[in-house]
Amino acid sequence: MVSFKELGLVNTREMFAKAVKGGYAIPAFNFNTMEQMQAIVQAAVETKSPVIMQVSKGARNYANATILRYMAQGAVEYAKELGCANPQIVLHLDHGDTFELCKDCIDMGFSSVMIDGSSLPYEDNIALSKKVVEYAHQHDVTVEAELGVLAGVEDEVSSAVSHYTKPEEVIDFSQRTGCDSLAISIGTSHGAYKFTPEQCTRDPKTGKLVPPPLAFDVLHEIEKKLPGFPIVLHGSSSVPQEEVDTINKFGGKLPDAVGIPEEQLREASKSAVCKINIDSDSRLAMTAAIRKYLAENPSHFDPRQYLKPARENMKKMYIHKIVNVLGSNDKL
Ligand code: G3H
Ligand code: 13P
Ligand code: ZN
Repeated sequence: MVSFKELGLVNTREMFAKAVKGGYAIPAFNFNTMEQMQAIVQAAVETKSPVIMQVSKGARNYANATILRYMAQGAVEYAKELGCANPQIVLHLDHGDTFELCKDCIDMGFSSVMIDGSSLPYEDNIALSKKVVEYAHQHDVTVEAELGVLAGVEDEVSSAVSHYTKPEEVIDFSQRTGCDSLAISIGTSHGAYKFTPEQCTRDPKTGKLVPPPLAFDVLHEIEKKLPGFPIVLHGSSSVPQEEVDTINKFGGKLPDAVGIPEEQLREASKSAVCKINIDSDSRLAMTAAIRKYLAENPSHFDPRQYLKPARENMKKMYIHKIVNVLGSNDKL
């Protein structure tokens, strides 16, 4: 058993309280590789932003849970080396689906876990989330639970359709589970195809797809029921068109990929939404840079040659999100 405090990590309690009060959101970036970790830390340090580094079950399977945990510990030391005296870094389990997985992460030094019981019947979601909260709080680890279902398909997260969170359930759910933050469903979804072309309209000038707006009425209802309570948005990548275009130009095939417009995320960040999850945009930034580099330098085969621009491109994207969308810069 190792406490996150020994690793220099922090939980989300104070971070979220400040974010809700200050009208900004903390970036929660998924990571699977060293380059993503480096880019996240560099971006957070340069912008003086708190940051959540999150690990999915798929990431644990890909990279090994122990390695990821040591990478997060390394992230804290790296941030200090880059000149940040007091880094505020959370190591978070993304979409934990069992008590055992959450316990395993808590026992190995995670400072925050998500228990995602959103696909379970309401009472079963409460029972599972409560069990995780009881164990986590013994170790001062904070817990995100989820109510409402996001549409979208990822390796470990899948549902064909979304069901918005019901505002009338949130008080009962948060009180009975004791969760520290609540992930809600208001129209975001996972992956680079968040909406079908049929769900969108087309911009007559550019011909690009314009997605339907998020359900801000549902968010505001939830905020009224739970004033000041930390709300989380999953599936919040914007799927930047320039990255999609680069991927398609250099041999990729991502037709009609579409994400959440950044203006809407900016608006959400000013509300009780205090954690915004971004994974797909990092994947797109990395893939676009690698495809471009290899197409332009066909004789190169040293991974450092193409991973360096990939890391730079991800860092640029992380800084953009922090400064221009979430507003978490200059908070350390
Ligand atoms: O919400 C899902 C995250 O993007 C993680 O995806 O399960 O493919 O690692 P993954
Ligand atoms: P995106 O697929 O929109 O990046 O969402 C990531 C996420 O919600 C991770 O939990
Ligand atoms: Zn998610």
